[in-house]
Amino acid sequence: MTILTGDQIRERATALGDWFHNIDLNGVQTAPNHFLNDYPNVKWRLFQHAIPTELAGMTVLDIGCNAGFYSIEMKRRGADRVLGIDFDERYLEQARFAAEVTGQDIEFRKLSVYDVGGLGETFDIVLFMGVLYHLRHPLLALDLIHDNVARDLLIFQSMQRGSPEVDAVRADYDFFEQDHFDSPGYPKMHFIEHEYANDWTNWWAPNAACSAAMLRSAGFEIVENPEQEVFVCRRTERPKPMGAVYPAKPKSNGKANGRGQA
Ligand SMILES: C[S@@+](CC[C@H](N)C(=O)[O-])C[C@H]1O[C@@H](n2cnc3c(N)ncnc32)[C@H](O)[C@@H]1O
Repeated sequence: MTILTGDQIRERATALGDWFHNIDLNGVQTAPNHFLNDYPNVKWRLFQHAIPTELAGMTVLDIGCNAGFYSIEMKRRGADRVLGIDFDERYLEQARFAAEVTGQDIEFRKLSVYDVGGLGETFDIVLFMGVLYHLRHPLLALDLIHDNVARDLLIFQSMQRGSPEVDAVRADYDFFEQDHFDSPGYPKMHFIEHEYANDWTNWWAPNAACSAAMLRSAGFEIVENPEQEVFVCRRTERPKPMGAVYPAKPKSNGKANGRGQA
């Protein structure tokens, strides 16, 4: 492995474009002017205690890995195998460079969360951080993660907007009952038709109750909420026997059933 000087690291990091992750590459900061300050370090410090510190023998999938900040942290905790996926090749190039400089053996692959079924394997820990609100079909993504790649822990984070209150949701409501929908703590997803924060890839902004409700609905039991936006979950059975409805899965006779029920 060639040891790069600070100037060489800075030069290559600059050539890789604007970074969303501020990563310390031997003293070179990749995004020193991040609008969220030292991101995602500032976030990681608030929830890192909630993740096992010893990951030897475990596998990790980092979905929407960006420049690999969390992938690198998982490898530093000793994970046997870390796979980072993202659908933006520009970020993957940054991730490969960051892993090279930090000396971490991590695989990065171009793949959308909607295609995780193609991986054909499950992982002890799945990270799904900062991606949900960038998706047009967020619940589908959670369903696909549950059905295809999550074996045990899911570490989830989403930008949240609206009330931090969380109402206890009843199992059912009468057709003429409506007041609960306007309660601040009722699960709500705000739809972003145009742009939010100058970013057209922001499609949704759940409130805290909605993040939790979607996770439960997709079959993830919340075991800890160490930071307002972060949920540590365990994969469990879905409350309703409904799986991801897309893509179609073959029936046992080989014909697609068009509904893909789990
Ligand atoms: C806000 S960044 C979050 C990065 C990192 N997970 C974190 O928490 O700091 C969102 C990332 O999700 C990626 N992304 C968006 N849609 C995706 C999709 N459909 N499949 C995989 N990655 C996606 C983007 O390219 C970007 O790297």
